[in-house]
This record gives sequence, structure tokens and C-alpha cells, in this order.
Amino acid sequence: MSSIIARRRHPAAGYAAVAGGLVLAGVLYSTLSGGGASAAAPAQTSTQIEQGRSLFLQSCSSCHGLEAQGTAQAPSLIGAGAAAVYFQMSTGRMPAKEVGAENNRKPSEFTLQETYDIAAYVASLGGGPAIPTGAQVSTVGADTARGSQLFSTNCAQCHGFAGAGGALTYGKAAASLNAATPTQIYTAMLTGPEAMPVFGDGTITPAEKRDIIAYVIQTRNEPNPGGLSLGRSGPVTEGLVIWLGGLGFLVLIAMWLTAKRRDRRHESEGS
Ligand code: HEC
Ligand code: HEC
Repeated sequence: MSSIIARRRHPAAGYAAVAGGLVLAGVLYSTLSGGGASAAAPAQTSTQIEQGRSLFLQSCSSCHGLEAQGTAQAPSLIGAGAAAVYFQMSTGRMPAKEVGAENNRKPSEFTLQETYDIAAYVASLGGGPAIPTGAQVSTVGADTARGSQLFSTNCAQCHGFAGAGGALTYGKAAASLNAATPTQIYTAMLTGPEAMPVFGDGTITPAEKRDIIAYVIQTRNEPNPGGLSLGRSGPVTEGLVIWLGGLGFLVLIAMWLTAKRRDRRHESEGS
């Protein structure tokens, strides 16, 4: 007992506690995010396809047509695949409110099950990429350094280096990547919404997709000193973050050095 108290008074105890807290937060985060990614798409059954079809008739057919064949207002979804439906519906882009509206990310009006049902129906019409499984989007063991390189060559020109989004030359904004889940990032790459190109598995392999996802998630979770997000909106705030982080580090070093020196002085005074 007394040894615990003595150790708690030790000047290094504060740093140990901070380091311990950081490690714990990291472990917690990785288990939480890993758990979220493991929700796999259920197998497609004929009742699911039937249910999906009736939901589609209610919410989507007015624009995409009764057989999803497309109309003057909206493209055909035959061959778009379950991944496209998952991406569009889970990010709240579909159902679109009106034709020609900008389809931005918003809370989905549908449950995950309803989304899977409509996805199963659209997939049953023919081909297209499937919704990736939990293992396919898992970032455990992913190479974030390679993810960073792949991101700068393939994504940064539109999404910015920290994935904050950015204005595209032709007036459409590329979305911020701060809210997308691993499955949404994966399905975005597979289906290329709107002005975004499709990154098929031949262009970016499944393993490379996981590296990119790990990088995007990591950038988003890099510590914000003071716990306040600065939004990563550009080089000025980025620079500020780096500067503050560096400053914090220097302060810690200074605290550590003075603490040591004070200890030594106490010791020499005592003897
Ligand atoms: C008000 C009209 C409208 C409604 C309702 C609507 N959509 Fe769309 N949808 C569009 C338009 C326009 C596009 C093409 C522009 C775009 O991608 O944003 C589109 C694109 C899509 C795409 C992308 C196609 C591709 O090839 O990647 C999917 C998937 C989709 N819609 C699914 C749905 C689903 C599922 C519903 C119902 C839950 C739905 N939409 C309801 C108008 C609509
Ligand atoms: C040519 C520009 C362009 C490139 C290159 C590009 N994107 Fe996109 N991306 C977009 C646009 C535009 C949207 C918004 C589409 C919409 O609203 O329908 C988008 C949307 C997204 C979203 C959805 C974000 C959300 O939360 O709703 C993700 C995730 C994404 N992109 C990831 C990527 C990744 C990863 C790469 C690189 C492998 C990439 N993008 C490359 C233009 C681009």
C-alpha cells in the first residue's frame, strides 16, 4: 500500500498516467471501431428481395423507374450493385429530395435492414459490386504509410490532404471524409458517386483499400490539443495544430527537466 502511495508521488507517475491513458484510449478505440466494422451484410434471401422491391417502389421508383430501369430524371440502377445502394442510402444521399438537388451527406431515413433489403433487390437485377464484409473493411494490421501514399496519389486532389473535402474545379464540392464509416469509404471507392471515379479492385486492390481506410480514419483521429476540432480546413489551422502540438511537447520536456533538477537539489540539500 505504502509503496503504491510512494510511487504515486514519484514525479514520473504523472507521465506514466498520461501515457497509460493514451494507450487505453487507443486500445478502446481500436476495439470499438473494429466492432463496428464487423457488422456484415446478411445473405440475400428471396423474401429480402421482395421486401426490398416494395420499399423501392415506395421510395425510389418515382425517379429510378418501376423496374429500376432509369428515367429521364435518374439513372438506371441495373448493374449498380448492392454497394452503390448501400453507399447512397447509408450516407442519406438517396432517396434524393428532388431532381437536380445537391445530394449531400445527411442522416439516413432508413434502417440498416431496409437498406440491405433494397440493396438485395437492386443486386438481384444484375451484377454490380457487393457490400464488403466486416473483414474486408477491417483496418487491423493495415499499412497507414502506404494508405497515405495511395491517398495522396488517388484522392487528395479532390478531398484535400487531410480528407477535409475541397472545391472541385467544375464547381461541385468533394465531400469531407470526416464522417464516413469504413464500409462507406470502401463502397465510395467501389462505386464512384457523382464526379468521383470508380476505383475497382484492379486499380486499387482490396488490401490497398483497407490501407486507405486506415489512413483516413487515422488522420481524422490524430489528437486535437484541447479536444477542440479545428476542422482541418487548410494549411493555416493544420500549421496551428502542429505548432500547438510541438509546443505542448516542449512544455512537457521543460516540466520534466525542471522536476528532475528540483529533485536533485532536494537531495543535495538533504545531505
Ligand atoms: C427525386 C429523385 C430520386 C429519388 C426519389 C431517388 N433517387 Fe437515386 N438518384 C437520383 C439521381 C438524379 C441520381 C444521379 C445523380 C447522383 O448520383 O447524385 C441518383 C443516383 C442513385 C444511385 C447511384 C447510381 C450509380 O450508378 O452509382 C443509386 C444507387 C441510387 N440513386 C439509389 C436510390 C435509391 C435506393 C432510392 C430510394 C431509396 C433512390 N435512389 C431514390 C434521383 C433519385
Ligand atoms: C475527381 C474527384 C474525386 C476523387 C479523385 C476522389 N473523390 Fe471521393 N468524392 C468526390 C465527390 C464529388 C464526392 C461526393 C459525391 C456525392 O455527393 O454524391 C465524393 C465522396 C466521397 C466519399 C463520401 C463521403 C461521405 O461521408 O459522404 C468518400 C468516403 C470518398 N469520396 C472517398 C474517396 C477516396 C478514398 C478516394 C481515393 C481513393 C476518392 N474519394 C477520390 C470526388 C472525388
